Amino acid sequence: MHLLFSDIHANYEALAIILAAAGREGITSLIHAGDILDYSFQHHEVIREFVSRNIASVQGNHDQMVSGLEQYFRDDKELDEEEVRYLTGLPQALVFDNIAVTHDLPPDAGRTPETIQQMTAGKYSADAIRFYFCGHLHNFEIVEIPSGIPVLPEAEEPLIKKPIMPLSKQPGTLECFRLQPDQRYLIRLPAAYQYDPPHKQWLTQYVTFSEKVLMLQLHTQKFDNTAMLEHLGVMS
Ligand SMILES: [Fe+2]
Repeated sequence: MHLLFSDIHANYEALAIILAAAGREGITSLIHAGDILDYSFQHHEVIREFVSRNIASVQGNHDQMVSGLEQYFRDDKELDEEEVRYLTGLPQALVFDNIAVTHDLPPDAGRTPETIQQMTAGKYSADAIRFYFCGHLHNFEIVEIPSGIPVLPEAEEPLIKKPIMPLSKQPGTLECFRLQPDQRYLIRLPAAYQYDPPHKQWLTQYVTFSEKVLMLQLHTQKFDNTAMLEHLGVMS
């Protein structure tokens, strides 16, 4: 059983909820689809947990900002050299058997088998991957990839648009999706750190997935984000 989440965006409180759930369920395979940094402020604590708990993560676009010329971003976040090394060293893609994880859909160039192959360090095989997980848009979605399409189509193409999901965002809910054998899926992970304006609540969402029984579960939990609000001065 894997626990997959994305876009934790430096929020330690949301991460703590997820880690506690993983502990309760005895799940040791924790996979993050990128964007460790930004929006919230607890990046030191979050990076520390990622390292010590061996959470596998790809590099998100926000994590990428620490590399290259964007020195100001590093300074602003007060990242130490080890943290910068960690973030810049994150891979663009991870492959676990028949699961591939990227932050966004493989970028334009990445929609060819060759580039996906490069992103996954040669571990990608169009036939082997059945479950593509990504994050970035912060909303949950499961999409069937029709058979006969060897790679992910262009985002604009309607080909893969057969979503199967409601997004209830009801705290405390567990939505189960039974995936079909011999089918391939693109699963967009929701943000693990998000604000739900209509209900004025902070939510964390993550997914547990068993390839054996093809059961994907979306967990939605409310969390206390007081630390963040205090940080912003909202509570004072
Ligand atoms: Fe994000």
